[in-house]
Amino acid sequence: MIGLRTVTEADCSMIYKWICREDLDLSSFSSNSISLKEHSEWFQKRVKDKDCFFFIVELNRDPIGSIRFDKVGSDFVISVALDKYRGKGYGVEAIKQGCKRLMAGERIIAYIKKKNTLSIRAFERASFVMIGTKEIKCQRTCIFVLKERGRK
Ligand SMILES: CC(C)(COP(=O)(O)OP(=O)(O)OC[C@H]1O[C@@H](n2cnc3c(N)ncnc32)[C@H](O)[C@@H]1OP(=O)(O)O)[C@@H](O)C(=O)NCCC(=O)NCCS
Repeated sequence: MIGLRTVTEADCSMIYKWICREDLDLSSFSSNSISLKEHSEWFQKRVKDKDCFFFIVELNRDPIGSIRFDKVGSDFVISVALDKYRGKGYGVEAIKQGCKRLMAGERIIAYIKKKNTLSIRAFERASFVMIGTKEIKCQRTCIFVLKERGRK
């Protein structure tokens, strides 16, 4: 069973390990390698930021990934990554659960590289619709927004 819990400072090194294993060229817009020091500074800020909703994705209480919503203007930008158990529907479930943690009426946006086809599929399955494309850091990027909103 998939569940979400809010991140704590103790999750810093686990998330760093996940980031180091991630194919950043596919999933991230900052594909430079990140030092533990840079990561820790970034992580502390995120954990303390009241406009950031940051969760660990758990499968039967085992941490398998993370999902984050960063406030940008009046919108929230979603980032999600599973470190393991991909392709089993858990990503879609995590996206759905995460979106329900935000207030109804808030716009949730996902920026996904066009070549990241599995991620695009996952967001479509989680009721996101593509509203356009744009070039971000020389990468053709699809812009998705959540179609339906409900409150948990
Ligand atoms: C994006 C991500 C969270 C999706 O989670 P996931 O658990 O792998 O995806 P799901 O299993 O929920 O599946 C979504 C769709 O992709 C398909 N899919 C996923 N992995 C697949 C694989 N290895 N082979 C074939 N199809 C696959 C699923 O079948 C499903 O489509 P369907 O419902 O039509 O069958 C995960 O792949 C991931 O962590 N990717 C790296 C980080 C990333 O790219 N994040 C996106 C930027 S925000």
